Amino acid sequence: ASNRHFFVGGNWKCNGSKKSIRELADLVNGIQLEPNSGTQVVCAPPFPYLDFVRSLLKKEVGVAAQNCWIHGNGAYTGEVSVDMLLDLGVEWVILGHSERRHIPELHESDETIAQKTKRALDSGLGVILCIGELLQEREEGKTLDVCKRQLGAVAKVVKDWEKVVVAYEPVWAIGTGKVATPEQAQEVHAVVRKWFSETVSPQVADKIRIIYGGSVNGQNCNLLAGQKDIDGFLVGGASLKPEFANIVSSHS
Ligand code: G3P
Repeated sequence: ASNRHFFVGGNWKCNGSKKSIRELADLVNGIQLEPNSGTQVVCAPPFPYLDFVRSLLKKEVGVAAQNCWIHGNGAYTGEVSVDMLLDLGVEWVILGHSERRHIPELHESDETIAQKTKRALDSGLGVILCIGELLQEREEGKTLDVCKRQLGAVAKVVKDWEKVVVAYEPVWAIGTGKVATPEQAQEVHAVVRKWFSETVSPQVADKIRIIYGGSVNGQNCNLLAGQKDIDGFLVGGASLKPEFANIVSSHS
């Protein structure tokens, strides 16, 4: 639908073992991309497997962490810094995922996510920045306000959007099997693009990839991929299965 390169991320979440991850890497390495399709594929394993996965995947496939620490190296027991990710050859990080925003024990704020985004970008990582509304917010007609608020917090501290991919993930569609319709997703993607045009610049709005996440599978990906402002997917459950290959190829 545009000259933007299609982007498909596999968010493996908190899943996998050395054995299953080796099999999954084989599967991803076996995906044949149409020559000149320009499609970009990125896999996001849990932290302990990042190094292993980077060594297994062919170089055309990117590797993303699912989170990073807000500060640099230092006395921060249990955290993983951006410098460590770069040292492992990791190219991307997923930030602002709804599970990190809404699981009560994690509860990351808009501001925390914005600061993490800034740190990651300043160090040269690409950021898959997730936004999206809860079911209640959708029912109250607040979907667009929530997305703009989440983006606005990042725009306060980030000026260069070159290495950002925005993932619109309506929370009610995540892991529920209840996918947004192509029209529902397109509506939000178009508003997000307009927001970029008005708040950042028309050039950034034109270039930035806005991908959809939430119960994407091998069946529903084609119609979604046909929407004008859907530039790819962030895939959870189906990224652990052979149908991930169909999702990667859904853009023709
Ligand atoms: O980040 C991807 C995600 O949250 C969607 O998960 O399992 O609904 O595809 P899933």
